[in-house]
Amino acid sequence: MMLASLLTLFTGALASHVVSSAFTVAPMPHTISFEAAATTPTVFTTADAALRQLAGLKPGETLLLHGAAGGVGLAAVQVAHAAGATVVATAGSPSKRSLLRSLGVKVAVSSRDTSFVTDLAWAGGVDVVLNSLTSPGMVGGSLSVLRRGGRFVEIGKRDIWAPAAAAAERPDVAYNLLAIDFMPPEVLQQLLYRLSADLASGTVAPIRAAVHDMTSVAAAMRQMAQARHVGKVVVSAHARSPAAFSSSGSSGAAASFGSANGSMFIIGGTGALGQLVSGWLAGNQAQHLILASRTGKLPASAADMGLTNPQHPLFNSMVSITACDASVASDVTGVISRLAVSSSSSSSSRVSFSGLQHQPQLASLLHAGGVLADAAFASQSARGVRQVTAPKAVALQLLMQHLSTQPTSNSVLFSSMAALLGSAGQTNYGAANAALDAEAQMLQAAGVAVSSVQFSAWAGAGMAAATASKVEAMGIGALSPAAGLAALEAVVRAGSMLRWGYDCYQVNAWRRCE
Ligand SMILES: NC(=O)c1ccc[n+]([C@@H]2O[C@H](COP(=O)([O-])OP(=O)(O)OC[C@H]3O[C@@H](n4cnc5c(N)ncnc54)[C@H](OP(=O)(O)O)[C@@H]3O)[C@@H](O)[C@H]2O)c1
Repeated sequence: MMLASLLTLFTGALASHVVSSAFTVAPMPHTISFEAAATTPTVFTTADAALRQLAGLKPGETLLLHGAAGGVGLAAVQVAHAAGATVVATAGSPSKRSLLRSLGVKVAVSSRDTSFVTDLAWAGGVDVVLNSLTSPGMVGGSLSVLRRGGRFVEIGKRDIWAPAAAAAERPDVAYNLLAIDFMPPEVLQQLLYRLSADLASGTVAPIRAAVHDMTSVAAAMRQMAQARHVGKVVVSAHARSPAAFSSSGSSGAAASFGSANGSMFIIGGTGALGQLVSGWLAGNQAQHLILASRTGKLPASAADMGLTNPQHPLFNSMVSITACDASVASDVTGVISRLAVSSSSSSSSRVSFSGLQHQPQLASLLHAGGVLADAAFASQSARGVRQVTAPKAVALQLLMQHLSTQPTSNSVLFSSMAALLGSAGQTNYGAANAALDAEAQMLQAAGVAVSSVQFSAWAGAGMAAATASKVEAMGIGALSPAAGLAALEAVVRAGSMLRWGYDCYQVNAWRRCE
């Protein structure tokens, strides 16, 4: 007998055994887990039916997606992008809006009021609206921003407008009510088979989820009722309960970087150490974090970094993810000047492409941006040196031009032990970090509060992960995240003296020699 894994969609599925209609099952691609697959049937069949079948969303059109950080919203973002459409969205919190921007949503604004109407009307309107919100003015406002001949799909179930009311308001648009629970089985089956094919081909991917095990069904239900999650709540027969992310360091870490209420600008904030440090700072009362990288996107490996997990400290901070090449003057000027504007003006447009709305004044800079271009000494090139130096010393020069007029209470630069001891294949990287250190030392002498820390290789992810064995061979163990963060805090607490990384180096090297 062949056993197949299936995607299915019906009520009562939290039982040990179920009997399902053949119409409500489709093959589950073997490339995804059961937990990941469980996030998909309801939301993707709804998004597909709404956008492809009912609205006929076309390439180049614009979709207004309300409550976009919900399950259907996250699926609809993917379906719309696959159709070649542009997505503008509403969501209830700054962290949800940051998440949506990181997923390629062009504009993400608040779903708590109707201020989106003015902005979208000014921008020329939208072609399709997908709505599930019932707050006052939402439907009327959304109908008003639809272009002539637009399509409105309502997936809400309570307090929804009757078709006649919508027709009275906008006779020129198609108003559709959608409930997949009332769909003919054969249509549902088609949608499930298309989902199965799209998942297998990678056209769409499972959405984010908080996964609970069978012993915490009550907690899963409570989480869903409180609507604090992003994406889906999944109950798994295999998973352990979601672990609460713990933060190391003392509760005053953010304060020792300056004001816990100010903005912390983290270059390379989407990288391995940037993510770790951001979570740690958020867990230690940092309220406003700006994570910058050249792409301005979370790497796929970052999953959601905790932005969607209510138990993660980052969930409660205001996080902006922004594109900024720290070695390009206009990028650095753009971010820092926008930051100055957003901190001094609370009345700026709610529609922002920058992701830097309503961030308070800059308090601290953490520079954890960097790239590698390793090569044996004989193969080192000027190009490689330029590549590796750009996010280090070049970036620091640009940053400091601004920071002299907008001083931070503390700036920390992530340098490397390669500058102190050298590292095989990394002469360019060692030199780039040495240049960073030297520049920081000059700034120190000029009275600027900046520390350059020569970290040894951190354990786990990060740019040193691939070379961990080389470092190990030198007798230096990897720096655990807890030890690295403790060293970082010690440097900041000690004041603004340039440190040559002995804290971290000794933590590892000498302990092994004892
Ligand atoms: N990991 C370690 O064990 C270790 C040890 C010692 C020192 N360090 C230092 O710590 C820092 C972070 O390391 P990591 O392991 O977190 O590296 P990572 O995971 O590779 O992250 C590097 C980050 O820097 C960003 N970046 C690169 N060039 C940039 C630029 N010109 N402007 C803005 N952002 C830029 C990258 O994003 P984009 O590519 O999207 O721009 C990425 O977000 C690096 O400076 C590294 O030298 C790391």
